Amino acid sequence: MRPPRARRVVVEARAKLNLGLAVGPKRRDGYHDLVTLFQSISLADTLIVTPRARGFRLVVTGEAAPAGTRGRAAARVRARGNRAPRGVPSGPSNLVLRAARAVSERFGLGSGADFRLIKRIPSQAGLGGGSADAAAAIRGLLALHGVVTERAERQALALELGSDVPFAMRGGTALGRGRGEVLAPVRLRRPFRALLAIPKWGVSTADAFRRLDRAKYPLTLWNAKLRSAKLLGRKQLDAETWVRLGNTFEEVLGPRRPDFESLRDRLRAAGVRTPRMTGSGSAVFGIIPPGVSEERVAGRFVGSEAIHLVRSTRAGLRFVRQP
Ligand code: C5P
Repeated sequence: MRPPRARRVVVEARAKLNLGLAVGPKRRDGYHDLVTLFQSISLADTLIVTPRARGFRLVVTGEAAPAGTRGRAAARVRARGNRAPRGVPSGPSNLVLRAARAVSERFGLGSGADFRLIKRIPSQAGLGGGSADAAAAIRGLLALHGVVTERAERQALALELGSDVPFAMRGGTALGRGRGEVLAPVRLRRPFRALLAIPKWGVSTADAFRRLDRAKYPLTLWNAKLRSAKLLGRKQLDAETWVRLGNTFEEVLGPRRPDFESLRDRLRAAGVRTPRMTGSGSAVFGIIPPGVSEERVAGRFVGSEAIHLVRSTRAGLRFVRQP
């Protein structure tokens, strides 16, 4: 039994980009081997954790404004209970509640918690929003109870919740292998800014991998890509170099290809370099060249897709200090 130590813990849970992603063969356990460069970005959800006598409760709200800002620009979309933002479950399947139960069982917390999740990361977009929320719930709940844990123990718990959760806990820039959980830190030559566009269609990770298997995705270059990613990981390179690794999911878009090509063309016309899909999609990002105004790039973008200006960050989770 561990009584709560804090009255309130607030964690910013940042999205990620896959600067490049190569999917390898399907393994016996059903997962696919992959190699990717993960990068945390400034687009973030906020998770607020407060003590509760028993059980875990979650309220999900949507917010269009960036984390840490308030005011008129904050066009708030309130959604309570099952009216959570599209595609985000507020019930027991939400990764925040699954993470809370896992932490509670492992560490015997003895009391519950209230979670308020402010969603800004679009879901089903390949931005790792659910994984970031799960990582924030693990670290937030441990902080609320003042539980000290080993990193390896937290990473093992994270992997039980999803392949990308270990990276979400760790954040920054990392080469991911295995299911995505074998992580090695990488340094980029310089931080970068990107314009992110979110198509109206979304896709669950599981569906995207099934589609990949059905499409008999090409494995001819897998070994070469794995080797070259390991070599690149030892150098300090620009983000653009990693983008050239490609993304296997772009190769099996099927009927969505024309929309993707159109979005890529419009991002290029706005002034970004080498637009690339992140994760299993649907979001597409383009790196803004140094010295170019990000507002001008965003202003030049033509299309009905939601857009976000983001920058690379050195951490995946950020505890917001409480007064
Ligand atoms: O690990 P996570 O629960 O996020 O994965 C969702 C689904 O995506 C898995 O059930 C699996 O079908 C697929 N997946 C995969 N190979 C990976 C990661 C995920 O096949 N490396």
